[in-house]
Amino acid sequence: MNQWDMNNDIERVLYSEKDIAEAAKRVGSQLAADYEGRTPVILSVLKGAVLWTVDVMRYMQYAEVEFIDVSSYHGGIASAGEVDLVVDLQTDIAGRDIIIMEDIVDTGRSLQFMKDLLEARGAKSVKVASLLDKKDGRVVEAHVDYVGFDVPKAFVVGYGLDYKQLYRNLPYVGVLKPSVYNPEHAGLVDTTDITPEH
Ligand code: PRP
Repeated sequence: MNQWDMNNDIERVLYSEKDIAEAAKRVGSQLAADYEGRTPVILSVLKGAVLWTVDVMRYMQYAEVEFIDVSSYHGGIASAGEVDLVVDLQTDIAGRDIIIMEDIVDTGRSLQFMKDLLEARGAKSVKVASLLDKKDGRVVEAHVDYVGFDVPKAFVVGYGLDYKQLYRNLPYVGVLKPSVYNPEHAGLVDTTDITPEH
């Protein structure tokens, strides 16, 4: 077996490449129908949402694409709950229909921060399309309008989602082996009860 293979670090696949392709088609086609006659601004949230964004937008019609980066802290370096604007979008969105593209909505803090920002700048409408919706993780109210999958609590990586900046380029979403992030407890941790690092 090739040792230099990211797949070795995955305990199980949650959503396969085929599952994700179907979800992207479903969500993209629904967006195409819902935004018929309008030219929305797709706002892709760096870095995790890049793969999901490009796959969904293939099914849409007239649309612009912009990027934003916000950092949410889950304990550790900054006080929990703080959200920073790291990279701002490069266009005036006053009066525009915005579709925020996320890889995962967890506590909802990042989404709440971006919605407040966009509304303060005069967006006409703001909707959200997320690959994963982890409703059990909510700390603040946050609604996802277009959901790829309702994800259970698990340490998930792949298709945009990272652990220490790695695994984003896996074509599927999988559960990381505990031995990867906690070598001392290899095999002793039930990953179903671990909150992902997002
Ligand atoms: C992840 C994800 C969301 C946010 C969701 O981004 O892309 O933006 O966390 O978490 P929340 O609902 O608890 O706010 P992250 O800050 O990990 O950045 P990344 O996409 O660059 O990995």
